[in-house]
Amino acid sequence: MTSPRRMTNKVVAVTGAGRGIGRGIAERFAREGAAVVLADREESVRETAAEVASASGSPTLGVTCDVTRETDVRAFVDAVEARFERLDVLINNAGTITIAPLDDLTLDAWNRVLAVNTTGVFLCTKAAVPLIRRTSTAGRILNAASGQARQGFIYTPHYAASKFGVIGLTQSIAKELAPAGITVNAYCPGIVGSDMWAYNDREWGRLLGDYQPGELMAKWIEDIPLGRAGTNDDVANLLLFLASDEAGYITGQAVNVDGGMFMN
Ligand SMILES: NC(=O)c1ccc[n+]([C@@H]2O[C@H](COP(=O)([O-])OP(=O)(O)OC[C@H]3O[C@@H](n4cnc5c(N)ncnc54)[C@H](O)[C@@H]3O)[C@@H](O)[C@H]2O)c1
Repeated sequence: MTSPRRMTNKVVAVTGAGRGIGRGIAERFAREGAAVVLADREESVRETAAEVASASGSPTLGVTCDVTRETDVRAFVDAVEARFERLDVLINNAGTITIAPLDDLTLDAWNRVLAVNTTGVFLCTKAAVPLIRRTSTAGRILNAASGQARQGFIYTPHYAASKFGVIGLTQSIAKELAPAGITVNAYCPGIVGSDMWAYNDREWGRLLGDYQPGELMAKWIEDIPLGRAGTNDDVANLLLFLASDEAGYITGQAVNVDGGMFMN
């Protein structure tokens, strides 16, 4: 017997859903019966959305949207309303990283990482909340933070600042939206295989020593108490719970999903 699909009748929007963890989240929510809007700055997100629809049988919409551009973000939310007439869950997953010693870290790189990872969460939340308020009885906002919202890693002060910032804005907005019954939480992945992690492995590996591709990541994974890297489904499982009606009494929290890498 198959178990009932947990997200039937919900509309879920995921930013940065063109690849990596965001795509995995979109696939998983679609398999659980949600109508899913996939937003990404890459135009290929439209094809991704079509693939997710045909694999899951759930309706999807792909929207090209750079989360740092307010006009794009407004158009994205308008597209959600035009297609599905409601929004229950916004997952602010889009993120980016660069790795550089302080001497080489430019103001442009600093600003770009803050713009995508932190300002993007603010812009998407601000644009989506009126629609969630009007159309959902159990609104949920879920924001991508990181292990680097627990402890800054070397050569990434901008990324660490951006992810600590996500936790701060999550708490603040959670307080503001609580009377409307909308919960706001953050999630902190540790190491999940993705294009971002391939870049991290390469760049930290180059700067921290003479590591071959995959070696540094393997070394860090050895220190994870549960003994493996995370998967898209590990992250999606947490988000499915936080998005569910059962999680209605949880707000303003940041939850690690990292195999025990961080315990604070
Ligand atoms: N991979 C990990 O181990 C890990 C760990 C901790 C936190 N995270 C966070 O999880 C999220 C997803 O990470 P990932 O590993 O899948 O990254 P990824 O680089 O593989 O994918 C990121 C996606 O976001 C999109 N994106 C980037 N900038 C955007 C913008 N301005 N507007 C819209 N879309 C944009 C990209 O096109 C891409 O599809 C990020 O917020 C990241 O910081 C990842």
